Order: sequence, then structure tokens, then C-alpha cells
Amino acid sequence: MNRYHINPEITQAETLPASFYRDQATFDLIREKVFYQSWQWLGDENLVQLPKHTHPFVLMDGFLTEPMVLTKDEKGDIHCLSNVCTHRGNLVSQNPGSQRKLVCMYHGRKFGLDGKFESMPEFKEAKDFPRACEDLHRFETAQWGPMLFAQLGGEVDFRQVIEEMNQYVGFLPLDEFVFNAVQSKDYLVNAHWALYCDNYLEGFHIPFVHSDLNEALDYGSYETVLHDYFNVQVGYSEGAEDIFDLPKDHIHAGKRVAAYYFWVFPNMMFNFYPWGLSVNVVRPISLNQTKVSFLSYIYDESKLHKGAGALLDKVEREDEFVVEGVHKGLQSKYYQSGRFSPSREQGVHQFHQMLAKYLS
Ligand code: FES
Ligand SMILES: [Fe+2]
Repeated sequence: MNRYHINPEITQAETLPASFYRDQATFDLIREKVFYQSWQWLGDENLVQLPKHTHPFVLMDGFLTEPMVLTKDEKGDIHCLSNVCTHRGNLVSQNPGSQRKLVCMYHGRKFGLDGKFESMPEFKEAKDFPRACEDLHRFETAQWGPMLFAQLGGEVDFRQVIEEMNQYVGFLPLDEFVFNAVQSKDYLVNAHWALYCDNYLEGFHIPFVHSDLNEALDYGSYETVLHDYFNVQVGYSEGAEDIFDLPKDHIHAGKRVAAYYFWVFPNMMFNFYPWGLSVNVVRPISLNQTKVSFLSYIYDESKLHKGAGALLDKVEREDEFVVEGVHKGLQSKYYQSGRFSPSREQGVHQFHQMLAKYLS
């Protein structure tokens, strides 16, 4: 059943239909076919700062509700494991802290910090035991600067994605970026999660919706570059202040770049400014509600309140207002779908094509 199809030719394509954003069965299918087939942001490497540290968490509680645990083994390697005991399914790690082994408190099954099954009481007579599936499920992980990611499913090579993003921002010392809790917060948006992404994926609305941001950016030269699995919007500045100091061999050397806005399918955004990085993780809650986490990583504090990366909170409120407006509009019986601006909505078109493909 392929209910959604997006014409690959943007000049002819129509947007996803309103029913996509209204249908509970589609929302549930997205969980399986999009989110469980994707790479997801886990957090900061400092969650497991020292060897033999473990950090249990629930990935997207209320949507995926996937119990996972991060561990750092004796050698300093980080692992992301399922936190579900392979005996009868109890949570293995209950609290973050220092541990040499993962031991399930229910009946004592023991695993290494890499998830490998090690021992289990009262199983001497069990035949064909232990099998490989006695190990905790191990997720493929990737690290970009201080940020950790895990592959829930699918075939995407995230290292390739990181390598391509680094063509734009690899000159920045991402390892030196420091997470700042004060500058970070969650927003609750009364809208479908994909509408939040749709809005993020075009700068078309900037002159209409964000008067302050519009002053910091040169709308005429704003551009969207599509890559496999992600895209980047490049915001240029008219002035010479608050721009990146780009190295000579950079693809944008000599240009006044004020911001790089990366979106990675389906729900991660990495906004680079001269002061550092604002990460947005879009977490579906229900058809009508979404939590968006803003996480700030600061590199140069002196530039924090300048340029395109100032006023993040104000810009977010302005975005929420239009996204919630669209969400209400899409409940109408009289709106089916729209068309794309070929010059300004390439990112939304890419997103809709990918969603249609993943759901087919
Ligand atoms: S559920 Fe973990 S040992 Fe039984
Ligand atoms: Fe916006």
C-alpha cells in the first residue's frame, strides 16, 4: 500500500496531503517505518564521562519509549545497548553510575559493558545456551564532536553524513564545543512533528515571519543544498559582522556566511553560528503535539547574542505560531494539499519525498 507519492519534479509536485498529518494510522506507521529505520540523537558523550560508567535512559519516552543504556567500557569505548534483559525483559541498568558489569537484579543475568552475555545462575541444564541472542541488542553508534547517535534501523551510513556535513563546518573545533544547560530548553508545540520540520526546511517564510532574523540575513542569497539523507540551508549576511571566519580552502571562502542550518532526516537539526551550535531534536508526542528540545553548545561566548544566532527564543516563538496555525488549517475539509516554490522550498520537497518513500 503506497498511499503517498511525491513527484520528484519539484515544478510539478504537490505537498503531502492534509490527511498525512491527521491520520492516526499513518502516525503509527511513521514510528515503525521512519523513526525505527533512522539514526537518532542520544545526547552528549559526557553522559558516560569515565570508563566503567553507565547511563540508562528511555529514547523518546511516550513515542518510541525504547529503554537503552549508554556504557563506556574499560578501554574507553562507548556502547549503546538495549536496556532490556534477554532473560525475561526486566530493565538491566536502573541508575546511572559506575559499574564493572551490567547485572540484572531480577535473576542475576550478567553482561559485559559491551552487552556481551557473561553468566546466568541456574542455567546449567539449559540446552543450546547461551545463544548469540543472549547478548543485549547492540546499536551501531556514531559520534560527531561531543554528540552521540545510534542507528535504530535502516541502511544509512551516518559516518558518510557526518563527513559531508563536515565539508561545511569541519573547520570548527567541534570537540571543544561545550554544552550549556542554561541556554537549552524544551518547547511544547501543538502541532504534528512533520509540520515543525516542514517549516524549518524553508527560509521562504523568514521575511514574513521573522523580522529581526530577516535583518541579520541576506534573503536574496539564502540557499538550500540537498544531500543524500540531509540538507543544509546557508544563511548569508549583508554586513561583515557576525559571520564565520572561513578558511581559505573552504567551499564558501570569501563569502559572508552567518549560519549553516543542517537538517538530518527525519527529526534532527544542527544550527551552526559563529558562537557555536544549537541542536534541535524534534520528538513526536501525539498527532497534535510535539516536543522540540533546543540544546546549545557554546564555542565563542562573546558572539552569543549577535547575528543570525541571536534571539533564538523569539524566532522559535514566531515559528511555533505559524506551525500551530498550519496544524489548525490542516484539520479543514477544504484543504487537500499545496504546491512547492521551486526556488524556495527544495528542502520541504526533499523531506516529503523521503517520507513518502519510507512509508511505501
Ligand atoms: S529478567 Fe533479567 S535475569 Fe531475569
Ligand atoms: Fe522560522
